Amino acid sequence: MEQTTRRKISYSGIQPSGVIHLANYIGALRNWVALQEEYDCFYCIVDMHAITVRQDPRDLRENTIAAYAMGVACGIDPVKSIFYIQSHAPAHGELAWVLNCYTPFGELGRMTQFKEKSETHADNINAGLFTYPVLQAADILLYDSDVVPVGEDQKQHLELSRNIAVRFNGIYGDVFRVPEPFISKSGARIMSLADPAKKMSKSDPNPRSYISMLDPRDTVIKKFKSAVTDSESEVCFREGKDGINNLMIIYGVVAGKTNNEIEREFAGRGYGDFKMAVGESVADFLSPIQEKYHGLMADRAYIEGCWKSGGERARAISNRTMATVLEKVGMVRR
Ligand code: TRP
Repeated sequence: MEQTTRRKISYSGIQPSGVIHLANYIGALRNWVALQEEYDCFYCIVDMHAITVRQDPRDLRENTIAAYAMGVACGIDPVKSIFYIQSHAPAHGELAWVLNCYTPFGELGRMTQFKEKSETHADNINAGLFTYPVLQAADILLYDSDVVPVGEDQKQHLELSRNIAVRFNGIYGDVFRVPEPFISKSGARIMSLADPAKKMSKSDPNPRSYISMLDPRDTVIKKFKSAVTDSESEVCFREGKDGINNLMIIYGVVAGKTNNEIEREFAGRGYGDFKMAVGESVADFLSPIQEKYHGLMADRAYIEGCWKSGGERARAISNRTMATVLEKVGMVRR
């Protein structure tokens, strides 16, 4: 009989909140695209996570579609990978409920993201915000995931997912695969252009602090020209030069150059030249992605077909896992 070897599974999700920016691309999407070579990949637009903070319904729907199209424009292959919208696979909510019953209150109270969001959304500290990481655990555990590519800020949530899986397996036998974090080595953290001590973030009120994947060329160049650096003049990657380091990471990614190459290229030249080069390279880099994105957004039937088929494939797999879980905990079969 033919023996098919199981390819390892990679799972990740991204929130559909506002514009996708360059830090999302460099820190996440770029790695997602690369992982498609080696893994069976699941990528999810987590609209159910998004409603843990108040959303305008029209914006949420549009942002979800835009995030999906941007994912495809950046190179997520909707045929090779299972790329879908979280709410299209109802097992996510179902499993989250079950896992809620196996997650101690105290463990959730320790989550730094919950503590931070409770401060920034003090008027709406809802139960969903509190159990957010349980829904995330459900996302991951439904698909037998081996690895989860995430940024540093999600390590704690992944650790919680692992604890939940181990605890559940301890009671019911080996139901869930225990996932490993996959933190990319290359330039995972892109900082704000206006304040290199802070992460680049779409919730930053200063639009000069981040590069949207959809920023037009002159906006990109203008933003890099005004990027905050330091009072020296040497382009080199060194402790304490947060602004320049950040620009070097960005330039390295979009131009495919190493730090050494960049240092040599700009030896004896000032920051002005360097910033201009970074701005132009980023603009050149974004241009074909933007073209692809606008093409996809104009061909609604195609993109809709992609998320529908992704949703179907996700439902088939997640419903199977869910049936096993319900059976294990003692529900009567439907
Ligand atoms: N919480 C993640 C973030 O804010 C998004 C996310 C939701 C996710 N579900 C996931 C990431 C599952 C990895 C795996 O970035």
